[in-house]
Amino acid sequence: SKKPVRVAVTGAAGQIGYALLFRIASGEMLGKDQPVILQLLEIPDEKAQKALTGVMMELQDCAFPLLVGMEAHSDPMTAFKDVDYALLVGARPRGPGMERADLLAANAQIFTAQGKALDKVASRNVKVLVVGNPANTNAYIAMKSAPSLPAKNFTAMLRLDHNRALSQVAAKTGKPVAAIKKLTVWGNHSPTMYADYRFATIDGQDVKDMINDQEWNANVFLPTVGKRGAAIIDARGLSSAASAANAAIDHMRDWALGTNGEWVTMGVPSQGWYGIPQDVIFGFPVTCENGEYKVIEGLPIDAFSQERINKTLEELEGEKDGVKHLL
Ligand code: NAI
Repeated sequence: SKKPVRVAVTGAAGQIGYALLFRIASGEMLGKDQPVILQLLEIPDEKAQKALTGVMMELQDCAFPLLVGMEAHSDPMTAFKDVDYALLVGARPRGPGMERADLLAANAQIFTAQGKALDKVASRNVKVLVVGNPANTNAYIAMKSAPSLPAKNFTAMLRLDHNRALSQVAAKTGKPVAAIKKLTVWGNHSPTMYADYRFATIDGQDVKDMINDQEWNANVFLPTVGKRGAAIIDARGLSSAASAANAAIDHMRDWALGTNGEWVTMGVPSQGWYGIPQDVIFGFPVTCENGEYKVIEGLPIDAFSQERINKTLEELEGEKDGVKHLL
């Protein structure tokens, strides 16, 4: 049988944690033959630690055959020891009256500390997924705080946006989600992201021709996908959790086990692709193979798309400027 791998999850007692941990432990993320050790991080706060204990009791009660170890931590330096995978879910939410700058600063502090800890104690091949918002900028901060780890190991979650876009295209075309290939979402995980079906196909047919409705693209599709998070909060009274956890599973599974040539979207540090400056964590179309992602290069960018890409990049550059002095 395979050697167990170490998986760190932060914010483990939160909403997303509750929808995520059981699926990791059941083998949905890394395969039904891969034993896992969960290294769970929560804030030192007594209530949070107690809630984490409760979640661990439930994990225990599932008697998952693949769950061969489980630890609770309040310090990233111990939580990230030797980890092969790190899902950074815990973040500081925006409180009432909190300014954007305060939010960025509070998260910069968290992700600087966690980046440094990963740098010191994680496996040199650790795969990091940042879910906690602002996800792209938090991933950037963690990456910059971990200079001894390869930058490419730091990624941000755009997969929820990707999956949301898939479902909207499926509904519009009346075709199954699984039939849609080559969809992507460019940019920031925020309402400025640019979901792009220009290259998408269904059974070899161009989705763009099937839909043939630029008005729908600009005024229905993009706002629906971009504001989906807010629509969920409005309907549920709580932010997306199960769908976010599902996207995190998809992201890590595909990165680790490969996509068989299919495109998916990951937020990854740019190496200058499509004119996106070096190191900006940006949503790109990728394929994954042998534990590595590869950005699809050379796609044509038309005027409408360029405008969208510029807008989401501008927002990311703004966030980056906002935390520059904290790095
Ligand atoms: P939540 O508030 O239910 O749980 C967050 C947990 O993180 C809390 O238990 C909290 O104690 C913990 N936490 C806070 N700071 C921490 C730290 N420094 N170290 C360890 N744990 C810490 O929030 P929820 O719903 O689970 O969401 C988590 C994050 O994911 C939020 O930032 C949310 O905005 C983000 N999110 C991102 C999505 C994406 O597509 N990238 C989609 C949905 C949510």
